[in-house]
Amino acid sequence: MAVVTIVGAGVIGISWARLFHAGGWEVRVSDPRPDLDELVTRELAGVPVTTTGDLAAAATGADFVQEAGPERIEVKKEVFAILAAHTRDDVVLASSSSSLLPSLIAQDNPAADRMVVGHPFNPPELMPLVEVVPGPRTAAHTVERAIEVYRELGKLPIRLKKEIPGFVGNRLQKVFNDQSIHLVQQGVIDVKDLDDLVRASLGLRWAVTGPFESGALGGGPAGMRHLMEHVGSQMAFEDGRPDPARMDEVLDAVEETYGTGESAYERLVRRRDGRTRAVLGPLGWTEAASGDGGQG
Ligand SMILES: NC(=O)c1ccc[n+]([C@@H]2O[C@H](COP(=O)([O-])OP(=O)(O)OC[C@H]3O[C@@H](n4cnc5c(N)ncnc54)[C@H](O)[C@@H]3O)[C@@H](O)[C@H]2O)c1
Repeated sequence: MAVVTIVGAGVIGISWARLFHAGGWEVRVSDPRPDLDELVTRELAGVPVTTTGDLAAAATGADFVQEAGPERIEVKKEVFAILAAHTRDDVVLASSSSSLLPSLIAQDNPAADRMVVGHPFNPPELMPLVEVVPGPRTAAHTVERAIEVYRELGKLPIRLKKEIPGFVGNRLQKVFNDQSIHLVQQGVIDVKDLDDLVRASLGLRWAVTGPFESGALGGGPAGMRHLMEHVGSQMAFEDGRPDPARMDEVLDAVEETYGTGESAYERLVRRRDGRTRAVLGPLGWTEAASGDGGQG
């Protein structure tokens, strides 16, 4: 059985572990946290995994590595230096990083040709997408192997043509989140109504068409060109930016709306995952085999 080493047992690492196990891999999880075994027993009940705080030992003999440690460049560089030294030279070293450039993570690393970003959306076990982002020194066969592994896991890997901070998913998300915060800070709408507004409109729309396909439809038979000239030309307002000095107001409102702590988190995860599972099939994705999503 092929062996995957998952580095980091946080939100993302635990979900990758479930996904790789479901895909038939033998799973190792490495994390220096003292409660690793307790956490894995609780979060990965029924999933046979090997755990260790010793990254070099976890990497030795692995066939694929999916890193999901802290989003700190200095930590990533340290982790990948150890991975480079303790893996065979045919092993792909993939980082789950949400925004860090693969070329920075791979700086000074002798295994830069084997390093690539494989950025999932949370939770990786349900969200079809993995953004595959090569750095300038990433070998073509590394990208091909990463894509093959993610496809076999039932994901939709999308390869970016070149690296850019934040990649594509999080650059789009950042614009959207910044504007959401700005609108709440301006007193235009509250947190819950903004979430409901998005779920009832853009969220549903973008689950079935992307922004460009939606643009093509929005203009009727004359297409996106007509939409841009007709409606788009009137949207000449300033976007506005979030006020960093007033972030606490927004965070307080989010906490008041959704709660904090273990039990609130578990309730929200159950609701999100239940809803996501309910729509994956009808939208043409299947939980462990998203393939081309049937969206074409
Ligand atoms: N949370 C998300 O929505 C999301 C989505 C996509 C990608 N990511 C990316 O996935 C990665 C993990 O994010 P997360 O949200 O799971 O973080 P997290 O904080 O939940 O977990 C990080 C884990 O890494 C462990 N860790 C610390 N130092 C380590 C080391 N030297 N070696 C191994 N493990 C170490 C920590 O103990 C912790 O358990 C980040 O790079 C993040 O950008 C996160």
